[in-house]
Amino acid sequence: MRNFISVQDVDDIDALVQKAIAYKNDPFRDRHVGAGARLGLLFLNPSLRTRLSTQIAAQNLGMDAIVFNIDKDGWKLEFEDGATMNGMTVEHIKDAAPIMGAYFDILCVRTFPSLVNREDDYSEQLVNQLIRYAGIPIVSLESSTLHPLQSFTDIITISETFKEARKPKVVLTWAPHIKPIPQCVANSFSEWVNAWGKADFVITHPEGYELATQYTDGAVIEYDQSKALADADYVYVKNWSAYTDYGKVLTTDANWMLTQEHLRNTNGAKVMHCLPVRRNVELSDEVLDSEISIVNMQAANRVWAAQSVLAEILKTNKIAASCV
Ligand code: CP
Repeated sequence: MRNFISVQDVDDIDALVQKAIAYKNDPFRDRHVGAGARLGLLFLNPSLRTRLSTQIAAQNLGMDAIVFNIDKDGWKLEFEDGATMNGMTVEHIKDAAPIMGAYFDILCVRTFPSLVNREDDYSEQLVNQLIRYAGIPIVSLESSTLHPLQSFTDIITISETFKEARKPKVVLTWAPHIKPIPQCVANSFSEWVNAWGKADFVITHPEGYELATQYTDGAVIEYDQSKALADADYVYVKNWSAYTDYGKVLTTDANWMLTQEHLRNTNGAKVMHCLPVRRNVELSDEVLDSEISIVNMQAANRVWAAQSVLAEILKTNKIAASCV
């Protein structure tokens, strides 16, 4: 694994899941693998789980981790090739990226979409320019279109909780929200579940909230939430703004918020969410505070997801002690 940007970077999802579960059972089994290696964590947007779990993962492997809130503490970056920088931007990514490449062995980055221009957001300019100019492996901590560490965590969580000898039915349901939210988590979850191929996968949302088919192809799309939820083993709750009418909030219909009543026809479904969650807007207290909620398990599994990805990158790229 050179970079970790999407599920396309993973050769064998189940093998990586097993590696993550091995770390969960024995967090320090590779405590020296990253000794002498330095991880950079570049944040252009807020985070609780991602920044903490990735730092813990690095420490478990013996790596040093440095967090840089570049949006607050760095120079304002320019991304356009050939830009005449006589405005607000101070440093071109072409100049900043190689410096970070010299300081770090692996660089992680979080950046959110503008939700204004779909073409710009879906071009993943920052991540691609870091890959091009930093010269070191790049790990996405959520980009304009995808959140691969979250989705990998979600697959780990389903794998370790589903014990039956059949495919689970997994339903991704749109939930209301008060403001426009990126499509990243929904895109990425869809891409990972489809690539994994070990679930019957249904996506439900109001009309107008169709996601990009490059991620959803392989899933059943069902506009009737009640039909979609029938016999579900897992219900993944997430809001996203419109992809077609880009970045728009088309409805805030509270009937789409999951309550115990919505779950009556499921197969005792477990409820998932990436967090943070707006209580009683996206998901009701009664669901979040019940035993069917596995959102905390998902969040805890972020450590093992990040640890297995970092270990793979250390190994493949012969970084630090793992190159011996
Ligand atoms: N799920 C997730 O990525 O959480 P944070 O935004 O808090 O990192």
